Amino acid sequence: RTKTIFRREFSTEVKDAFNNIPQGIKDLTSRKIYKTHNHPLNTLITKIEDFFLNKKVSDLQIPGEKFKLFQDFDPLVKVKECFDDLGIPEDHVSRRVTDTYYHNKEIVLRPHTSVHQIPLMKLQGNSAFLVVGDVYRKDTVDKTHYPAFHQMEGVRTYSLKDIGAKDIKEAKLITERDLKQVLENLARNIFGDVEMRWVDAYFPFTEPSIELEIFYNNEWLEVLGCGVIHNQVMARAGKDINNECGWAFGLGLERWAMKLFDINDIRLFWSQDDRFINQFKHGEISKFKPYSKYPACYKDIAFWVPSPVSDDTFNENDFFYLVRSISQDMAETVELIDTFTHPKSQRVSRCYRINYRNMDRSLTNEEVDALQVKIRGLVETELGCELR
Ligand code: PHE
Repeated sequence: RTKTIFRREFSTEVKDAFNNIPQGIKDLTSRKIYKTHNHPLNTLITKIEDFFLNKKVSDLQIPGEKFKLFQDFDPLVKVKECFDDLGIPEDHVSRRVTDTYYHNKEIVLRPHTSVHQIPLMKLQGNSAFLVVGDVYRKDTVDKTHYPAFHQMEGVRTYSLKDIGAKDIKEAKLITERDLKQVLENLARNIFGDVEMRWVDAYFPFTEPSIELEIFYNNEWLEVLGCGVIHNQVMARAGKDINNECGWAFGLGLERWAMKLFDINDIRLFWSQDDRFINQFKHGEISKFKPYSKYPACYKDIAFWVPSPVSDDTFNENDFFYLVRSISQDMAETVELIDTFTHPKSQRVSRCYRINYRNMDRSLTNEEVDALQVKIRGLVETELGCELR
């Protein structure tokens, strides 16, 4: 059912000044929670897989087509494949060291599963496939963001002949229609009979690009990004752009699972507490009952950011990242609660509130204080800020 194409080990690669992957993140790469029996992510993947492998995905029937699932690719990928080949410009925010985990200048922890599109399309006979994997981003600290999460990528390509199109223009229209139909069917299959809408979007590797939103639990929820595969991407995958086209989508599995299973804090997916995993049964979507929450405790930290104020002198993501790496899973949220500009010196001060809570046990005052002292120290030495 699954194949491994390549495997890279952290230790065998040369590190350089770009390296910014802390041990705590490296440890997550070996957890494989999405493969854990009874885990909500595993159940969700099984359900989506079942839709693509065993159901009629759309009206377009392509002889001999069978979706394949890949879920064993190493999360360490080449910058070239992850960004350049997908047409993501050199100066795009997602490429910054403040947003992506770099192993070295050429290798990153993948921030999306789209990195696997071209290599898989290049392989003979891969005209329809799904890729599941853990992805990594430096991001805000709150209940829906975690530096590691999971995506599923889907790709379907065909030739003009397969779909009875007279030219590539018509083929692309058919492709877009098919894409919408498949994903609407998928959303209905998983979420039930929900209201849906399509919203214009932009991704460098699809053209046009769109996002699907569903109305679930009384709110509009963005559930995936997708589009007709860009000509440049098709060409890089060795396809004949006058005779072949296709679609691609990417969806965040935690975002789906949090809604479906009523899991209100993304850190729970990583919990090693039996009271989490024991609530679920493989293949069943059931509602999570929060076990008694351990108390939270917050600490504020205020500091002057380096002048002149700019994204280069102080990037908030660096602060979030610092809090993450020191507190591991214990920082539940980090909120900016105040900014202040000194009327004379024009210096800018920021105050953040860090909310600490461990999902699996009570925190002691001493350990929270110790974390806070460490964070304060690093805000000075690493970020060049002056504590207040
Ligand atoms: N890779 C995109 C993301 O992470 C999602 C996407 C995949 C969009 C495939 C279009 C096509 O947001």
